[in-house]
Amino acid sequence: MGIYTRIGSIKGVEESRLASPVEDVESAGLKDHPRRATRSAVIRERLLIGGFAALLYLVWAWTEFPFPSPKPVPKFVADGIKQCDIIAHGPPKKVHFTKDRLVSDRYVPGTGAVWLKNATLWTGENDGEEILRGADVLLDGGVIRRIGHSSDIRELLVTSGNVQEVELNGAWVTPGIVDLHSHQGDSAIPSLNGYDDGNSLKGSVQPWLRSLDGFNTHDQSFNLSIAGGITTSLVLPGSANAIGGQAFVFKARATYENTPSSMQVEPPYRKVAHTNGSIGGWVREPDHWRHIKHACGENPARVYGQTRMDDAWDFRKAYAKGRELKEKQDRWCASPSTQTEPFPLDLEWEALADVIRGNVKVNTHCYEATDLDSFVRVSNEFEFAVAGFHHAHETYLVPDLLKSAYGPEPPAVALFALFARYKEEAYRGSEFAPRILADAGLNVVMKSDHPEPISSRFLIFEAAQAHHYGLNFSQALGSVTTHPAHAMGMDHRLGFLREGYDADVVVWDSFPLTLGATPRQTYIDGIPQIVNPHVVDKPVEAQQVTQSGDYDREAREAVQSRGDPDLHPHESVDDVVFVNVAQLYLSGSVAEQAAGSKVVVRGGKVVCTGECEQDVDKDMPVVDLKGGSLTRGLISVGSPLGLAGIDMEEVTSDGDAYDVTSVAADVLDGILVNAADGISFDYKNQLLAYRHGVTSAVAFPTSSSVIAGISVHYSTSALHPLESGAILNDDGALFIKLDNEDMSVSTKLAVLRRLLLGKAEQDTEVGEVLQKVASGEKPVVVVTDKADVMAGLVRLKRKVAPKMKISLLGALESWLIADDLAKEDIGVIVTPPRGQPLTWSSRRHLPGPPLTSQSLPAYLASRGVRVAIGTDWAWKAPQTRLEAAWIYANNPEVFDKFSALSLATGNLRTLLGLSDDSADDWVAWEGDVFSIQGRVRAVKAPSRARVDLF
Ligand SMILES: *[C@@H]1O[C@H](CO)[C@@H](O)[C@H](O)[C@H]1NC(C)=O
Ligand SMILES: *[C@@H]1O[C@H](CO)[C@@H](O)[C@H](O)[C@H]1NC(C)=O
Ligand SMILES: *[C@@H]1O[C@H](CO)[C@@H](O)[C@H](O)[C@H]1NC(C)=O
Ligand SMILES: *[C@@H]1O[C@H](CO)[C@@H](O)[C@H](O)[C@H]1NC(C)=O
Repeated sequence: MGIYTRIGSIKGVEESRLASPVEDVESAGLKDHPRRATRSAVIRERLLIGGFAALLYLVWAWTEFPFPSPKPVPKFVADGIKQCDIIAHGPPKKVHFTKDRLVSDRYVPGTGAVWLKNATLWTGENDGEEILRGADVLLDGGVIRRIGHSSDIRELLVTSGNVQEVELNGAWVTPGIVDLHSHQGDSAIPSLNGYDDGNSLKGSVQPWLRSLDGFNTHDQSFNLSIAGGITTSLVLPGSANAIGGQAFVFKARATYENTPSSMQVEPPYRKVAHTNGSIGGWVREPDHWRHIKHACGENPARVYGQTRMDDAWDFRKAYAKGRELKEKQDRWCASPSTQTEPFPLDLEWEALADVIRGNVKVNTHCYEATDLDSFVRVSNEFEFAVAGFHHAHETYLVPDLLKSAYGPEPPAVALFALFARYKEEAYRGSEFAPRILADAGLNVVMKSDHPEPISSRFLIFEAAQAHHYGLNFSQALGSVTTHPAHAMGMDHRLGFLREGYDADVVVWDSFPLTLGATPRQTYIDGIPQIVNPHVVDKPVEAQQVTQSGDYDREAREAVQSRGDPDLHPHESVDDVVFVNVAQLYLSGSVAEQAAGSKVVVRGGKVVCTGECEQDVDKDMPVVDLKGGSLTRGLISVGSPLGLAGIDMEEVTSDGDAYDVTSVAADVLDGILVNAADGISFDYKNQLLAYRHGVTSAVAFPTSSSVIAGISVHYSTSALHPLESGAILNDDGALFIKLDNEDMSVSTKLAVLRRLLLGKAEQDTEVGEVLQKVASGEKPVVVVTDKADVMAGLVRLKRKVAPKMKISLLGALESWLIADDLAKEDIGVIVTPPRGQPLTWSSRRHLPGPPLTSQSLPAYLASRGVRVAIGTDWAWKAPQTRLEAAWIYANNPEVFDKFSALSLATGNLRTLLGLSDDSADDWVAWEGDVFSIQGRVRAVKAPSRARVDLF
């Protein structure tokens, strides 16, 4: 208030001459006089006459004499006063847009209207519970103009009158997906040194940096994310620094200007031609939120060689500076006329002063209770609100702590569905966290951290998985729309299907939380974004609202154990009866209908399917599979599963494989590394994989050499290597890595050629095994993504070793040479199955629906290539079933259910050279194994007689 008054008095200098008569009237106390009407009429008259006379005098004085100007306000004071105006404005006051908003500030002239007819709407209203069936949506002027029926839609149009009518026949429509945590543009893909703009390493505290300045519009992921329904992202600087810099909200659709600036939503600065009252030619928009990124814990500690104590001090030191600046600015604004120095703008610390003023949304990467507690203390010490805790793996253990953070509402919690255990501070992450936090009344957000670990294209899949683990559908859909829009201060225009809101809308091919749900079209600012979308006809079941999984017991165990629940099976039996079984996918190549719906197991073996009256004893445990099925045990390959307990903790791993930095080392020493010697058991990722039906895994040595080594096939539920059945095959395929790490691809191929021709030392292990490879006695798995490298391998095979049995792993570009691969009988283990062009070597990947008709596995299979799927990260091993089901959902014309499962079972065995004969493991699933709701109820591990019940 004081600020306003004093600014008023400065302005008053100029206004005093004309204003003084009015002031006199007021100071005479006439306002409250009983004869006010009469008196004020007289006064008005006098004022009018007086005003007129003054005006005449002014005109005369202006033209005849030099203007008698008041003492001029110095420019630096005038400039400073503009800053004071901004400060006095206070935090953005957002009023939700209404149907009165006819045209968006982001409207692109010429955009036609779109009339979506007969849709099923999830609007976000009513805490996400509202569903409107048979509704129409009219997009016009870049806004949602009308929801509901209207006989004459054309009457409503404010723009061109040109309407595209889209018949949806009941298809689901949701608000556009909002990603609260993306590095799109700043960590552009395919990653190149020239695109590496995510983290500045010049210091742990840099509030002055801006993600906008690194936002690269050539990022190949823009259209991919949009193909997954992403319409808006908060682009944050990376998490290497305690204070990494300011974040900005983008809609990464193509714009006419094709600039980062034109892709921003409500930019906090407006560009102006002059520099007064601005920062570097930009004028602050005080009604637009600013955003900033912070990070606690391991990252800044690791990058700057410090401890958590140092991290916390970094924050306090920085905020002390921010507070000092804020106070200095406030003092300046208290009496601008007496100032002798310009307004203390201080580009370095002004953002933190603005945080304390409440103008900036603070999003902080923070995992453990330790870090959360420390950050909540900082927030209370300096009195600023926290918009969101990100990654936030231990928030579900301390929900009340979040509620004690400073500010009007608790921070949002931005989570991953399954990404955990990759570092110590993520070790206690839980898949049940979203549901536990929602129950505690917190704002749960699922986010990507795009481009890795999650491509924002598949952010909806994170929500679907959170739903599987207990989050109800309203919260799950809200977690990627309304909730993040609220956390970023944008829910006055985004996150809902609401009249007057931005026309950011996704039309889905199925209920968005079903497996494989894919946009048929994504509209941003009313503009359809996907050119010629390929739409898969999804079955009626896929249109139903899904039920969240019942994981009450598991969620309780996670909390009670403080994030470290016992993941071993709690109950094992020799004999069991499954009832209500719909399908068996155990042997042969087709699914068998389980005739009578009963499956009897004795000593771990299926002894009867069907009626089975005489095979059932009264005391046998009975498990109702509720229309579920039995499948073979799934296999995981491609990740270091079993080679590290916590990826980023060296002490938990087998260590670096034989570090070969010269070509000679392989050939001359001829040492062959065997993954069986490095494998460890009883890690969380393995136990979780087992609980999700992954009964065995193949690990291969991690090495950057040509010859990585020999793989091991092992049982994921074993406790140590000497347990019976722990190691299933210690002399597996030879793994070769053909990338340009440490030496060129051409050199590596030269080494390989020489070895295959038997020109190297014959009596070395490598020489021996390469002879077996050349003769086709031992399969070889080659890790590469790049088509040209695969082509080099094809040429090598044709010229040097035609009998060689090759499988490719990774292979994202393999579709380019599919026919040659089929001809040479080279199989492909697509890894990861929903890949993205992260690297230059995979830049020509096949994106799949809606951008291409087929996904990579489907394309390869339809060309006659034997296909399987692999996993790139150990934490993803539990998702193996979901990946196979996803592929089935989107390419049912290529895969039947059995062949889809075979991608992670039979086909994988063939491509890895694993024997099929001895395989006796299986999994019993409750519900449809191809739906998000399917879940494991029993597993029989390889070569063990007992059955574990879950
Ligand atoms: C709307 O779509 C549903 C689902 O396909 C269909 O049953 C219904 O007949 C459609 N209504 C109209 C008016 O076309
Ligand atoms: C900004 O400064 C220029 C000259 O420096 C002046 O002509 C202009 O009127 C000023 N604009 C505002 C909005 O104060
Ligand atoms: C969904 O979950 C939230 C959070 O636990 C809860 O408040 C809400 O009532 C639930 N909705 C329904 C329909 O049960
Ligand atoms: C992305 O999609 C837009 C259509 O919305 C298209 O004009 C543009 O060429 C696409 N960009 C790339 C890199 O494919």
